[in-house]
Amino acid sequence: MVERTLAIIKPDAVKKRVIGPIIQRVEEEGFRILNIKMVHLTKDEAKGFYIVHKDRPFYPSLTDFMSSGEAVVLLLEGEDAIARWREVMGATDPAAAKPGTVRRLFGFSVERNAVHGSDASATADWEISYFFKK
Ligand code: RTP
Ligand code: MG
Repeated sequence: MVERTLAIIKPDAVKKRVIGPIIQRVEEEGFRILNIKMVHLTKDEAKGFYIVHKDRPFYPSLTDFMSSGEAVVLLLEGEDAIARWREVMGATDPAAAKPGTVRRLFGFSVERNAVHGSDASATADWEISYFFKK
């Protein structure tokens, strides 16, 4: 099924200057980029985006990190895009991610892990509307 998903190139990857290789990978994997923008989230915007994790111990640190610099937000479309982008990203912890995945290649730690991807159809819709108005 053709789906849409939200990807983010996180501030650690922007600082590392690997926007280019990550977007190249997105295109090589066959995703269509329907929209793209650079953002610098406020702390409140980062908290809103990751509200699902509000009770987790890592929420304060995660939202500090996500508001620490520029990020690139992408609206992707493709066959099974949600699951496929998560496969291309790899596991949350770059050290545990499969060789060749974006997080293994470019991630630094379980928090500074280079990229985000929506995890289900409902969250993808919500995350897309968080950044891109209809
Ligand atoms: P994401 O939502 O960013 O695509 O990542 P994910 O589904 O693989 O992982 P999730 O459990 O949703 O966690 C969201 C983000 O929070 C940071 N995190 N830190 N310190 C920690 O133990 C920890 N665990 C997660 C990561 O930046 C993770 O991507
Ligand atoms: Mg997640």
